[in-house]
Amino acid sequence: MIEKIEKLKIKAENDLKSCVSDKDFEDWRVNYLGRKSELSDILKNIKNLDQEQKKVVGSLGNKTRIELEGKLKDTKNRISGTIGTSKSSEDYSLPSRHISMGKLHPVTLTLREIRKAFVSLGFQIAEGPEIELDKYNFDMLNIPEDHPARDMWDTMWIDEKINKNGEKMLLRTHTSPVQARIMENQDPPIRVIVPGKCYRYEATDSTHEWHFYQVEGLAVDKNLTFSDLKGTLYEFAKKMFGSETKIRFRCDYFPFVEPGVDMSIYWEGKWLEILGAGMVHPKVFEKAGYKDKNLSGFAFGMGPERIAMIKHNIDDIRLFYSNDLRFLEQF
Ligand code: DAH
Repeated sequence: MIEKIEKLKIKAENDLKSCVSDKDFEDWRVNYLGRKSELSDILKNIKNLDQEQKKVVGSLGNKTRIELEGKLKDTKNRISGTIGTSKSSEDYSLPSRHISMGKLHPVTLTLREIRKAFVSLGFQIAEGPEIELDKYNFDMLNIPEDHPARDMWDTMWIDEKINKNGEKMLLRTHTSPVQARIMENQDPPIRVIVPGKCYRYEATDSTHEWHFYQVEGLAVDKNLTFSDLKGTLYEFAKKMFGSETKIRFRCDYFPFVEPGVDMSIYWEGKWLEILGAGMVHPKVFEKAGYKDKNLSGFAFGMGPERIAMIKHNIDDIRLFYSNDLRFLEQF
């Protein structure tokens, strides 16, 4: 009898190894531990054995039952831990788990479009520092200290105010300082755009943010004319807003260009201003150390938020930076 129980146990343990589904486990349980199983039979008939045998067979039988129950539980747990319970792995009607995909920010998308348009026109891409020296943000752009034009850019100065050379530092108010940095380091011809972040000490409203992006542009070469400026920006407008786009230039003032203009596009029945531009001021060339009198150039600066607002009919610039997924998920 004892030998029978031991053989039964080995067989049960071997069989358990090939069980993987709930059904396998249930069949195994009925077969080895159920009411009609061999082990139950042995334990039921124990009463017919003599006193000595009753003790030995009884205790081995019960011990085996408990051990097999434990093994069943362990094996089930191990398998459900690796392949999931058979219920969820077999129930194909369960809805799949939602995978949320990230998206690019609308301003990033617009910046990419602007970059692509200018790269196709032969422009390179450059960047400059967001913490800038007074010298580049203003002086080199023909905006000397105490000049009233400084009022055009409400500035956030860096607390310490000076770097180790005693120069004043600020959060750049526009990307135009990179013009001066490029001219200082590179000889013409230059065709470059400068995307980047800018900051202004300004109360926010639906058309103003205290931080925003700009894309600056600069072309310097021998004998560049205002027609080159117009042609370049017209091509850009068509790439950005469609081949039928109409543009308009009006006089404007920026200290680093002469003449200075702003450019509008005709959009849904209205003229909307999208950028400032002009021919590089001779003083800017002089400060950059360019001496060749035949050099000329044009520059422009635009706000990608403004362009995205026009293209996507967005009426408040603050939406871009308020992290509201209901807004961001629309792009
Ligand atoms: N930097 C100017 C601004 O922040 C924009 C601008 C205007 C840039 C005219 C230019 C330009 O290069 O020629 O308002």
